[in-house]
Amino acid sequence: MIKTGTVSYFFRDQKGLERSLDSVSWSASPKIWSAGCSAGQEPFTIAIMLAEKMSVWKFKNLTIIATDVVEEFRERIRKGIYAESEVNAVKTNRENQHLFKKYLRVLDDGRYEVVAKIRNKVTFTLHDILTDEPVSDNFDMISCRNVFEYFNIEEKQGI
Ligand SMILES: C[S@@+](CC[C@H](N)C(=O)[O-])C[C@H]1O[C@@H](n2cnc3c(N)ncnc32)[C@H](O)[C@@H]1O
Repeated sequence: MIKTGTVSYFFRDQKGLERSLDSVSWSASPKIWSAGCSAGQEPFTIAIMLAEKMSVWKFKNLTIIATDVVEEFRERIRKGIYAESEVNAVKTNRENQHLFKKYLRVLDDGRYEVVAKIRNKVTFTLHDILTDEPVSDNFDMISCRNVFEYFNIEEKQGI
């Protein structure tokens, strides 16, 4: 049975994510799979962090495939727009202030839009992790954070 939820936020467990990103030997065309991506906060956070870490040419070649079982996330990720309440944690976190200002643009209606440079890196595909359907191949990194809690023991073992 598929259980779904939308709990996700920008810069979630930033230190842990930072360690994971720093441990990867990136290829010339880095490719990441964000599996169970929710409304895009995780893949966009990864893109923001890599925009800061990677050389300009390597970042240019970066692609992030974001997948989830919830089809509505496709449009949310394409637009990259978040209500103020959804970005509050980033907005009020001093450590991230410079990244927040650099990569999230405030709109006239008070919502926040992820800038095109970051938005363009992330493509959504509808996908169920519990199936054997391939998403793509040759990933430099697969991120599947806070998703296994949705699965029972047999499902976890199957993965
Ligand atoms: C708690 S959110 C985690 C989002 C993000 N990875 C993070 O860490 O912030 C879990 C996500 O997994 C998705 N999910 C649950 N079961 C799934 C499945 N079988 N295949 C793909 N995604 C699934 C949910 O729809 C939800 O968006």
